[in-house]
Order: sequence, then C-alpha cells, then structure tokens
Amino acid sequence: MKRESNWSDEAWGKIARKIARTSKRIGDGFPHASVEGSYRLEPASWWTAGFWPGLLWLVYRDTKDDSLRNIAESCEAQLDQVVMDYDRLDHDIGFMWSLTSVARYKLLGAEDAKRRGLLAANLLAGRFNLKGRYIRAWNPWSAGEDNSGWAIIDCMMNTAVLHWATEVTGDSRYRHVAVEHSDTVLSHFIREDGSVNHIVIFDPATGEKAGVNGGQGYAADSAWSRGTAWALYGMALAYRYTGEERYLQAAKRVAHFFIANLPEDSVPHWDFRLPEEVTKYRDSSAGACAASGLLLLARLVGALEAPLYRGAAERILHSLYINCGTWDREDEEGLILHGTSHFPEGKNIDVPLIYGDYFFVEGIAQLLGHEELFW
Ligand code: GLY
Repeated sequence: MKRESNWSDEAWGKIARKIARTSKRIGDGFPHASVEGSYRLEPASWWTAGFWPGLLWLVYRDTKDDSLRNIAESCEAQLDQVVMDYDRLDHDIGFMWSLTSVARYKLLGAEDAKRRGLLAANLLAGRFNLKGRYIRAWNPWSAGEDNSGWAIIDCMMNTAVLHWATEVTGDSRYRHVAVEHSDTVLSHFIREDGSVNHIVIFDPATGEKAGVNGGQGYAADSAWSRGTAWALYGMALAYRYTGEERYLQAAKRVAHFFIANLPEDSVPHWDFRLPEEVTKYRDSSAGACAASGLLLLARLVGALEAPLYRGAAERILHSLYINCGTWDREDEEGLILHGTSHFPEGKNIDVPLIYGDYFFVEGIAQLLGHEELFW
C-alpha cells in the first residue's frame, strides 16, 4: 500500500488489530447494529449481510490473514440459501453480493464467485419495471401490501453489480437496466439543490410518478443524510462505469450539498433538514459512505477539482477516527460510534452500524492507495 499520512496509517493498524479480535466472536454471522457493545446478528437475508464479509475482504487484501478469508467465504456460501427465499429478496441484492462474491472474484478470480455475482445481477435486473424505468425496491413487508411502484435512492449503490455483470460478460442488458434506473434517479430523485428524495412512488402499470415518501428521512422534503451519501457514491460509480457526463455532474451536485451541510466536526446529522425540536443525532455511517464516495469522485475529476472532494473526505474520515473511533474500547465491537439506522422507526439510534464500519475501512484503504473497489 502507498503510505500517505501518519493518521490513516495508524488508523489502519488499529482497524486490523480490532477486526482480528472481533472476528473471533462474530465469526460467520451477519452483524448489523452494535447494542451495548456487541453486534446483534441478523439472518443472512437481511440487507446488511454483505458488509461484514466485505469488511473482512478489505482487511484480508492487506494482511492475507486466512482466518478472515475463511469467514468471508463462509458468509458468502450462506447467501446461497437466500437465493431460494424469493419473498425476502429485494433490491439490496447488490449490497449483498457485491461485497461477497464480486469481492472474492475481484481479489481471487474465483469462477464460482463470478457465477454467484452474475446470478445476483440477473435477480436484480428482474426487478426492473419497464414502464416506469425503475428497479423495484422491496417486496411486500406484510400480506396484501402493494409496494410494486416503490423505488429508493439506496438502489443507486446496487446498480454497480449490473455494470460489473456487463463488464465481465460483455452482455449489455445489465448496463441498460442500470442506466435506465440511474436516469430515473436523475429525473425524479435528485433535486435542483443536490439533496435527494428517499422514496419515489410510481404507478407500476403506467409508469407515471405517483408521489414521494420520506422513508428513513424526517419528511418527504427533508434531506436524509445516508440517502444523500448513497446518491453521491452511486452516481460516481455510474460515471466510472459508463463515462456518461450527466452522472458525474449529478455526483458533484450531491457532493456539494453534502459537504455544505456538514456540521463543524464533519460528522453528519441523520437528516440535514431537521426542525429545532428534533434531536440531531449523528449518522456516522452516512459520513463514512460519503467520504469513500468522495475519494472515488476525487479520482474521477480533473487535478484542479480533486482537492475539494479529497479534502472533504479526509476531514470526515479523520473526524470519524478521532471523535467516533472505539480503538481503546475492549467493550465495544463496532469500529465507529454514532450511527443512526432508522430514526422514524426508532431503530438503532446512536450506535455503531456495520455499514458505517465497512465504509470507514473502505475509505481508509482508499486513502492509503487501494483504488480497487468491490462495487
Ligand atoms: N439501505 C437501507 C439504509 O440505508 O438504511
């Protein structure tokens, strides 16, 4: 690795030591949120299932510690059962298989991993609604619910597995789906000022836009910070894969909104538009995801523009390291504190989240010169 600055070098050492330790307790489970110091495990079908193995691959890439590789491979194998569980499969297929199978294929060239990644891409492409030009987010959460017209900003990250599938097969169908969905995001999700809608609802039969829903944000017209990060990073990835200027411009617009709305310590609040009476909890995961996306963006723009994005990413990661890091805490499995998973539902507020940890580690790895991403 290219060593750049003392603090990120030091952070990497702490990450590697802590992950070597926590991996012995977490093993091949699927952590999501850490409560009272211990990561709670979720079923393999939960959307976060890829982040722990993905994090292990990031560390393995540097340390070549086979015990981490074995755990990541075991997590990946467990996802096979999820493929048969149609009811629970949703657009998060991308998060789940990009950080398991695609990661292992990129790192080790394993053909079985490539096949799994392609199967995931096919399942995701199968969720595309031709009339509305969007990838359907979820299946019904309860009997009788019809959410077939719902699309969400998070899915921008998931389109990466489609671009990857076209790259490795030469079959452009996957990219067509990703491009159509991304263009829908440009027209219906990203607002003029660079903030984004979380959920846009379409009439699934006609494709007409039917409404907007605040989802995990405070309100339909607020600015959920993690959703903003998904848009920023997802658009940067869309540009990296396609070279289409409109995606780069969108990534920059969202980045400018994100950076302009950071508080003094650079750790975002869970929503950038909150009324006075609502507690401004932080969402460190939004910061980590945006920072890693900003580092990619810095590599995609010209030399004169890059320092803006790289500088912001470094400020966020450094603040997460100093203000949220758990390096000296043996009693905490999470790497970074102060994540907020779902404020409107009162779930996992002000706790470490596995995707926050993942993107923090991915961001530090990028700072240290690892340019290959699993996305
Ligand atoms: N993709 C769900 C979330 O960001 O919480």
